[in-house]
Amino acid sequence: MTAKVIPLIDQRAASRVPVIPTHRPVPGGTLADTRGRRLRDLRISVTDRCNFRCTYCMPKSVFERDYRFLPRTELLSFEEITRIARLFAAHGVEKIRLTGGEPLLRKNLEVLIEMLAALKTHNGKPLDLTLTTNASLLSKKAQAFKAAGLQRVTASLDSLDEAVFRAMNDVDFPVADVLKGIDAAHDAGFAPIKINMVVKKGVNDQDIVAMARRFKGSGHIVRFIEFMDVGSTNGWRMNDVVPSAEIVRMISAEMPLIEAEPNYTGEVAERWAYADGSGEIGVISSVTQAFCATCTRARLSTDGKLYTCLFAQSGRDLRALMRSGKSDEQMAGAIGLIWNQREDRYSEIRTAATVRTKKIEMSYIGG
Ligand code: GTP
Ligand code: 5AD
Ligand code: SF4
Ligand code: SF4
Repeated sequence: MTAKVIPLIDQRAASRVPVIPTHRPVPGGTLADTRGRRLRDLRISVTDRCNFRCTYCMPKSVFERDYRFLPRTELLSFEEITRIARLFAAHGVEKIRLTGGEPLLRKNLEVLIEMLAALKTHNGKPLDLTLTTNASLLSKKAQAFKAAGLQRVTASLDSLDEAVFRAMNDVDFPVADVLKGIDAAHDAGFAPIKINMVVKKGVNDQDIVAMARRFKGSGHIVRFIEFMDVGSTNGWRMNDVVPSAEIVRMISAEMPLIEAEPNYTGEVAERWAYADGSGEIGVISSVTQAFCATCTRARLSTDGKLYTCLFAQSGRDLRALMRSGKSDEQMAGAIGLIWNQREDRYSEIRTAATVRTKKIEMSYIGG
């Protein structure tokens, strides 16, 4: 790895206290940004810690023993997270994804899941409540999560090759224990389980076909993710990316694939079904075919900042608003304004292309 990597977690960037609008009505329904993209998904980071040190995410060179993770008082409490989630749900959010760091490191996560599972969308339906995990602790928790109302699980697994996986997670964590976690989630009733594999050329691309083969017919959906550009200082190079089109070609040569329709507009993964009807895979082309034009995602960091893009420069400090006693109406007004004035990669590119205004320096926000 190169010397400096911008981490996938969330507390580095500066934050601003959001403006509470005085002349604008509190938003009543769903929210749209200036390019008409609805606010539909909220990704909530419940901890900045992780028990892995994936070389592309939390490399040991940055996350050393003396790295300062957030102290407990800075974390949003479950009550604070639920309050924010309720406001978002009332204004159009339909999917909530719990992320980290590694979300299972947050104590009693099932309690939060139960609180979130009780929320309803703006039109009275249950939320699509889901979780992205490295699965290392999943066998202990899968049953409790199901009972608490979690609907879906996505597990990360970058290789089935023991040496490659241990080197990528960089804590010598074995493949078998991740597979146990995935099995436990399956036994608890989660289906389909999605399995995310970040593909880095020369590191794990030789394992792509084996990964597809291993899970073909299992009911699980493997998604191959292009290794993403995480800012200008992480040493990312286009040469490290295996384009999704190439991944589809490699798998299809052995197990023919047919392109499938998206499940919903703005779905991040492109779906490909096995021609013999034995399931599907997904490819996530964050680099070769960026999906910003239909992006409906906001992110809430562990310490309560709201980001409107994975690469946002800074977050807006919702925790400060809450802890200074602002009402739900004031909070909703602030959230509406933030989304209306959304800063994101796509807007930045469009703006730069058309009006040559000041370029927004984006950094990378995790989860
Ligand atoms: P579902 O379709 O609900 O299953 O979820 P998802 O695919 O949107 O979520 P997941 O957390 O599994 O995301 C898969 C991968 O897509 C992540 O690991 C990221 O690499 C990438 N990704 C997810 N959201 C974004 C985003 O907003 N921007 C970019 N650039 N990449 C994203
Ligand atoms: N590029 C693509 N995906 C990444 N992830 C972490 N870092 C990157 C990156 N640089 C993925 C993880 C996990 C999800 C939270 O994000 O593998 O599936
Ligand atoms: Fe942890 Fe996931 Fe990042 Fe790996 S990719 S270090 S498992 S948060
Ligand atoms: Fe959305 Fe930003 Fe990701 Fe583009 S880079 S898909 S705008 S979060």
